[in-house]
Amino acid sequence: MDRPKKRDVLRAVNSMSSLCQNGEKKEGIRAVNSVCSISELTDEDLLSRLLDRPRLKLERKKSYEEMSLSLYDSAHSLDGRSGWDTPVFSMKYSSDLNPMVTEAWEALCRSQVYFRGKPVGTIAAYDHASEEVLNYDQVFVRDFVPSALAFLMKGDPDIVKNFLLKTLHIQGQDKMIDKFKLGDGAMPASFKVLHNPIKKTDTIIADFGESAIGRVAPVDSGFWWIILLRAYTKSTGDHSLAERPECQKGMRLILSLCLSEGFDTFPTLLCADGCSMVDRRMGIYGYPIEIQALFFMALRSALSMLKHDSEGKEFMEKIVKRLHALSFHIRSYFWLDFQQLNDIYRYKTEEYSHTAVNKFNVIPDSIPDWIFDFMPLRGGYFIGNVSPARMDFRWFALGNCIAILSSLATPEQSMAIMDLIEARWEELVGEMPLKICYPAMESHEWRIVTGCDPKNTRWSYHNGGSWPVLLWLLTAASIKTGRPQIARRAIELAEARLLKDGWPEYYDGKSGRFIGKQARKFQTWSIAGYLVAKMMMDDPTHVGMISMEEEKHMKPPLRRSSSWT
Ligand code: GLC
Repeated sequence: MDRPKKRDVLRAVNSMSSLCQNGEKKEGIRAVNSVCSISELTDEDLLSRLLDRPRLKLERKKSYEEMSLSLYDSAHSLDGRSGWDTPVFSMKYSSDLNPMVTEAWEALCRSQVYFRGKPVGTIAAYDHASEEVLNYDQVFVRDFVPSALAFLMKGDPDIVKNFLLKTLHIQGQDKMIDKFKLGDGAMPASFKVLHNPIKKTDTIIADFGESAIGRVAPVDSGFWWIILLRAYTKSTGDHSLAERPECQKGMRLILSLCLSEGFDTFPTLLCADGCSMVDRRMGIYGYPIEIQALFFMALRSALSMLKHDSEGKEFMEKIVKRLHALSFHIRSYFWLDFQQLNDIYRYKTEEYSHTAVNKFNVIPDSIPDWIFDFMPLRGGYFIGNVSPARMDFRWFALGNCIAILSSLATPEQSMAIMDLIEARWEELVGEMPLKICYPAMESHEWRIVTGCDPKNTRWSYHNGGSWPVLLWLLTAASIKTGRPQIARRAIELAEARLLKDGWPEYYDGKSGRFIGKQARKFQTWSIAGYLVAKMMMDDPTHVGMISMEEEKHMKPPLRRSSSWT
């Protein structure tokens, strides 16, 4: 056997090290041979390595396993539950690693939550200094996604599998809010493990929105669950989990909630304010892009995992029809670029009948002033929301990145979104990637729309704040579109501050310069988001577990502006 070069070994350790294997030794360490540093790759190389294929365990080469064993022979062993105060790992060579990556792994490992001895998720924030814990000591479904991706990329899928099964079990519980029962498919926003040291028992309490501020059910949780199940399947090549009857049923229950017929005239999903990552009143009620893009990705993910039995087929037919309508609707009506803005600016109103050009009767006077300066000649994006006589022109990061990753955006639209991010770097990235939305609301508008929310003041938190977790989405979108230099630039910014500042939850200010007013420190998804971004840059094929190629039959029937023709 050829001995691996030390440089290769370190690089592999850097990107997917087995830093927090609690207890038993895991065998899930991937082959190193294919891994090379981003700096050695051209952009074309990166793109061509972006394969939409399962990361099979078979990829792991024996030589690397042997090598890894010698690397990890001093790997820690934790006895059990949380390991809060236990040194998380000890490794030869650890001083040679990128110290920020090493610290991030340590922090991520510390954040693991155990149920009856098994890791089932990661806590939202492990902030000793914060006097108010609120619900940051819980495992949030959406927050766990970047943690899960980090563990999958590292070749440690058990925690992800445990999480998927545990949340599925929670989905099956009775969900009452006062005297009202929530839909069977609803997935929790978060759950907490209660350890009873005397009885030595663990129990779980979950929150489906009944304890959350505003009592809104998290529509995104079920979608993330399906998306994560696909990522797990792609990463491990283990189809047996998704094929289990309980997983098939869980998927069908989630799908029943969002594919049921109602009074809708649009294929998009009608949502309450605060039903996503933006989990308090922020004027995103209606048809927020944040949810529509996740809806689209979850539908496509489910389609690839549903069994072709009679129940599965019924859903598959519904999904195919919905995907078709949804992509047409969003690509046509949510898309905004210079040309389209100019068209809306010149819209006639009060047009009756299906021949109307201004289909939603948008009054041009309602177009906000800022958008005329913000819109570059080259570039475009999916706007925040479209409903009768209402277009929310705000730019939302998650929705646009997910649109790229799921191929809801056409390749041309994806390019245009990246063009816009580059053209409006100061506004959207500034000093800390990435603004959750742009621009912030202020004064009268802020009072009316947020209900005077003191946490969502202008350029803070959900109102134009900068969220480091979004770095992983920007990185994935950059790699998918063959523009890794965008991610590189963003990662550099994050590296200048994140560790030093103690991994804050969010940053405030027009350019994201200040640690958020009420931001938690050691916010797990800020840590995991950074690790995922780094690992994807080291090995762009990782993007395949969270990205999808365009379906040929979904080619856009409408071609109306120069930025995507
Ligand atoms: C805040 C965020 C939400 C996140 C939660 C836990 O409520 O708005 O998106 O899931 O904190 O981190």
